[in-house]
Amino acid sequence: MIRHFARPRTAILAAAAILAAGPVAAQMEIVPDDVIYGRQILMSEMEAQMAPIDRAAIGEEFDLESSRVRASGVSAMLGVTPYLFPPGTDMESTADGDMPSIALPAVWDNFEAFKAMADQSAQLAFDLSQTTDEAEFRTGAATLRAACNACHGAFMQAYESPF
Ligand code: HEC
Repeated sequence: MIRHFARPRTAILAAAAILAAGPVAAQMEIVPDDVIYGRQILMSEMEAQMAPIDRAAIGEEFDLESSRVRASGVSAMLGVTPYLFPPGTDMESTADGDMPSIALPAVWDNFEAFKAMADQSAQLAFDLSQTTDEAEFRTGAATLRAACNACHGAFMQAYESPF
């Protein structure tokens, strides 16, 4: 769990109202191409936000304050990641679509592990956003990048990164 995402009471009441309106109102049609487009935008944006954080990790010059803000954004993006992988958006079902996924079947075969990895990574990014010591930030930055790579190693088909 990520501690900084407190769910406001109004959101719970709104959710209850939607549930009370019946199952049809609570349904949203899932269009696989759109979902994959969404998660690829999110992942690409995380990659872009990681640039100075990666520089910190490898001992290069970076700006601590703005990198902390970026880490906070990356934490929020990692927090929503699991919800962008609904059933029906796997590699096999999307192979012929406009947006073929490169997520391995393991995401859906072992969704709990996938979500746990996303949550842990979100926590690492959040902790990094709270780090004011430069040396500690560099260590935490390397740990966060290792967490991105670990999830890709387990759940994503290897590909040539454009970054
Ligand atoms: C919980 C697992 C998980 C974590 C953590 C994770 N990713 Fe990903 N990432 C994936 C999966 C799965 C895909 C493939 C998505 C698809 O094609 O459907 C992906 C795809 C990508 C892509 C390719 C996007 C594209 O345009 O095809 C980039 C870039 C990326 N991730 C960056 C990152 C960065 C940077 C981090 C860490 C800050 C990160 N990811 C953390 C699972 C993860």
